[in-house]
Amino acid sequence: MTEQTLFIVKPDGVERKLVGDIVSRFEHKGFKIVKLKMFTFTKQMAEEFYAVHNTRPFFGELVSFITSGSVVAAIVEGNNAIATTRLMIGSTKSFEAAPGTIRGDFGLGISDNIIHASDSKESFEKEIAVVFK
Ligand code: PPS
Repeated sequence: MTEQTLFIVKPDGVERKLVGDIVSRFEHKGFKIVKLKMFTFTKQMAEEFYAVHNTRPFFGELVSFITSGSVVAAIVEGNNAIATTRLMIGSTKSFEAAPGTIRGDFGLGISDNIIHASDSKESFEKEIAVVFK
């Protein structure tokens, strides 16, 4: 099933110069990069992007972190892209993420966990409306 999904290299991933490695993983996996964009989230964009988490205790930290520097967003396309991308990025808590995943190989944090990816088609549609407005 060919579908599209979104990933975002977070400010820590950009700062640590991991963009090339991360994009390369998706290309090597067989995905097509359909769109690529570097930008900085405004507070308003971040609050909209993470609206689903706005009652969580860490919401302020989440918004503060994602607005703290440049990010790189990509739309990728390929077979079963949403679930496969989630497998490739690994668990939210980087310190628990499996080796071989992006977070498992590069991260140790929870908010600074290198990369975000859409978890469903509905999230993808909402998220690209914010990022690729
Ligand atoms: S969910 O929906 O319950 O599975 O939430 P989760 O995937 O665990 O986390 C959603 C995003 O919130 C960030 N997060 C946190 N930030 C700061 N502090 C704490 N404690 C924390 N817990 C989770 C996490 O990095 C997720 O960001 P994204 O960009 O969605 O990966």
